[in-house]
Parts: sequence; structure tokens; C-alpha cells
Amino acid sequence: MKYFEIKNGKTYYNNLDMQKLAENFGTSTKIVFLDIIEKQIKTLKKCFGDAIKKVGYNGKFIYLNANKANYSSEMVFTAFKFCDGLETSSHYDLEYTHKLTNLFDEQNDKPIYANGFKTKGYLDKIVSMHKSGVKVVDIVDSMDELDYLLSKEYESPLEIGVRINLKGLYGHDGENDRFGLSKEELIEFKKKLQNQNKLKLTTIHFHQRGFSFEEDKFYQNITKACEKYAEFFKDFKTLTTLDIGGGTPWSYEGDFNYEEWSEKLIETLKDYFDKKQIKHPNLVIENGKYTMKDAIINLYEVIGRKKTNESFVWALLNTRLMEAIPEYYMCGEPMKFVPVNNIDAKMEKAKLAGITCDCDDVYAEDENFVMIPEKQKEKQIIAILGTGSYQESLTSQASVRHCLIPAEKRIVSFIQNGERKFLEVEQEQSAQNVFDLTKLNKKYLEQFS
Ligand SMILES: Cc1ncc(COP(=O)(O)O)c(C=O)c1O
Repeated sequence: MKYFEIKNGKTYYNNLDMQKLAENFGTSTKIVFLDIIEKQIKTLKKCFGDAIKKVGYNGKFIYLNANKANYSSEMVFTAFKFCDGLETSSHYDLEYTHKLTNLFDEQNDKPIYANGFKTKGYLDKIVSMHKSGVKVVDIVDSMDELDYLLSKEYESPLEIGVRINLKGLYGHDGENDRFGLSKEELIEFKKKLQNQNKLKLTTIHFHQRGFSFEEDKFYQNITKACEKYAEFFKDFKTLTTLDIGGGTPWSYEGDFNYEEWSEKLIETLKDYFDKKQIKHPNLVIENGKYTMKDAIINLYEVIGRKKTNESFVWALLNTRLMEAIPEYYMCGEPMKFVPVNNIDAKMEKAKLAGITCDCDDVYAEDENFVMIPEKQKEKQIIAILGTGSYQESLTSQASVRHCLIPAEKRIVSFIQNGERKFLEVEQEQSAQNVFDLTKLNKKYLEQFS
């Protein structure tokens, strides 16, 4: 979707004058647009809804929010209101999700898809939520996980999916994808699921990382996933759902055509399953980046300029860039910087730096620069667009860790009277601490309704 626009020499985001936003709130500032989250979800649901009708597909489209993209509770809460269900990544993520869903009873029937590595705590929570009537689908990612689930007793079968390890997913060429079960494990998996009624296999799952959309690879992977679905369907008539994980395309220019994409995807599924004479599966997509990325912008001011060479000027921003855009430093994810004001002035090339005293605190590869006015007459504001997904998770925003994996306990060791001592100064992070840090409570969330 296109949220950034230039009209009559002014910049707008989400139809709001960006310079005015900077004047009203000052810098450094992040603005979170909850209405963008709503719009993103509604848009994709409409695209798939229309595609399903047009193509004559018999399965449903199920939009999940991948919580890991941002745990700010007002953001997850907004996604929760408009999406069909939530996807979790860890034990605390599931505790967090359960608490959130319990806060708002009227929405409490939405499914939760539990992904990621399952610790004992995570599995026990899945089982206990299932027993209490919540629809949790456990996406099995290891044989140990399957064995543990099979060792439990259930009154009604627990719904499960299986994550398949597909070679050649983009972002994970070669053998570097640790997720999913291998070919050999899948044979064992099938055997173990025969002649039992504790677990009901409904879902085939895979995930491909969507840094940049490569259509050919995307469809190669979709075809492989369909093949797995068809292969499993021979033995498991309980299958209903194909879950293609996250990686929904997103473009910096906001010009990706989601109508075409959804239609082609639905057509591909219909063609494949019609040929195999298999009932069309429901399609689940776990949208992290697509849901959250556009929902935050950062506003900074150029508070210093420096020229250390002839070809560009350094623009020093009142922030710690390394922490503002960690995904760029950790995973090479490019970011979109734009000058907010003075856009009609004579421009020069600038590379950006934060004001930490760290020489790596720069956004300075050759292609990474912004044009800023040669002469600065008034405050120059620079915005970073699309920081809503992963930037906050990866820098432990408000001390909330990536995928809500608890922060370590902290032990200080020192010598006292010639003897080594160990003092525990912080305990391992608790789920309650996560709820407090994310402000996961009704009073806080009701402000945004
Ligand atoms: C299993 C799974 N689903 C969904 C996602 C979300 O992906 P994206 O942010 O590309 O939508 C991820 C991201 O790591 C994932 O691992």
C-alpha cells in the first residue's frame, strides 16, 4: 500500500502532513498508526476473498498475525481485532496471546497457530489451552515434539500441523533452514500418527522468508508444498489446511499488486488440487512484516553535518541508528529514509549516521543515502519509513525480547575477603514481566478502541 506521498512540495504519510507531525511531536519520535494495521489486514482479506470468489476456490483464506513482528500490545491487540487468528513463536508468546485473548472474550474463538521450537513449557501450555477449549493448532517442528504430544492424554484430539523442511527456500538457500521435518523424519512422522486418536493432522506448513519477492522461487516452493499436501492426503483425510507461513511480499515503493498476487496464488492452488482431485485446502498466511511494517515511522532531525570527503556529506541524526534499524545491521534489510521538509531546495547527497560514539552507527553503503538541502535554513527532518516490523523486537523494545524468549538471569561475580562470590541481581524474565512491559492490560488497551 502506498502511505508515503509527495504533494505540492510537501510530504505526507498516511494522508498526514509529515512536517506538521514533526512540529507537533518534536524529534526523535516514533509514530505508530493503528489504522494502518487495520487497513493492511482488511486489504489482504479483501484481495483473497475476491480472488476466491472469482476463481471459484472452495477453501477459506485465514489471515493470522505473526506476533513476533511487534509485541507492542496495542499493535497486537489491533491485529487481533481484524485478523482471523494469531501465530505464536514461543512459550511466552503463547502465554501473552492467551492473556490477550482472555481480555476480550467476544473475540476469543479465533484460532492460535503455535510455531517455533517447543520447550516443555510451551508444549504444556498448548496442551492445557487445548484442554480448556481454546483452538490451538500445534505446528510440529521436531520428532521430540511429536513424541511428547503423543505421550499425553486428551479428551478430544489435539489439532496439529507439520512443518516441512523444503530445500531452496529463498533467504535460506542450501542447508541453512533448521525448521521443519526432513524427508526421513516425515516417513517416521506418518507412521507414528497411524492408528492413534490423540492427534489430528489438519495442516501442512512451510515458511519462506520474504525479504524480496522472487516470483519463480515463490511458485516453485508453493508447488513443492502442494505436492507434500497431496502426498499426505493419501493417508490423512483429516487434512484441511495449507499454511504457507509468512513472507507476504512488501515493496518499498508501496506498489506491489496484492490483487494480482492473491489471484495467481489461488488459481495455482485450484489448478493443482483440481488435477489431483483433492478438496481445495484452506489457505493460512502468517503475516508479520505485511501487518506491521508500514505501521511505524521514525522522525529525526539532522543535528549536525560533516564533510570527510568530496562525494557526500554526513548527516547526523538525533538517534542511535544501530538500534533504530537493527534489521539492517543484523540481516541486511534495506530501509527507506526520506527528507520530510525542504524537498524543493537544491539538494546534495548525504549519508546518515547516528550520534552514538560508534563508528558502525552509519547507514552508509553506496546505495544508501538521502538527498538533503545543500543549505540548511530550518530544521531538517528525516523520516525512516516502515520500522513497524522486527525493529522493535530485535532491539528488545522496552526490554521485551525477540519472540518473547525470556531475558537471561544476571549473576555478578566478584571477590570479597579473598573469596569468590556470585550474586543473582536479576532473575530470568517471567511471563508476568512481559505482560507488564508490553502494557498488556485492559485499561491500557481500551484507550485505543
Ligand atoms: C513460521 C513463521 N511464520 C511467519 C513469519 C512472519 O514472516 P513475515 O514477517 O515475513 O510475514 C515468520 C518469520 O520469521 C515465521 O518464522
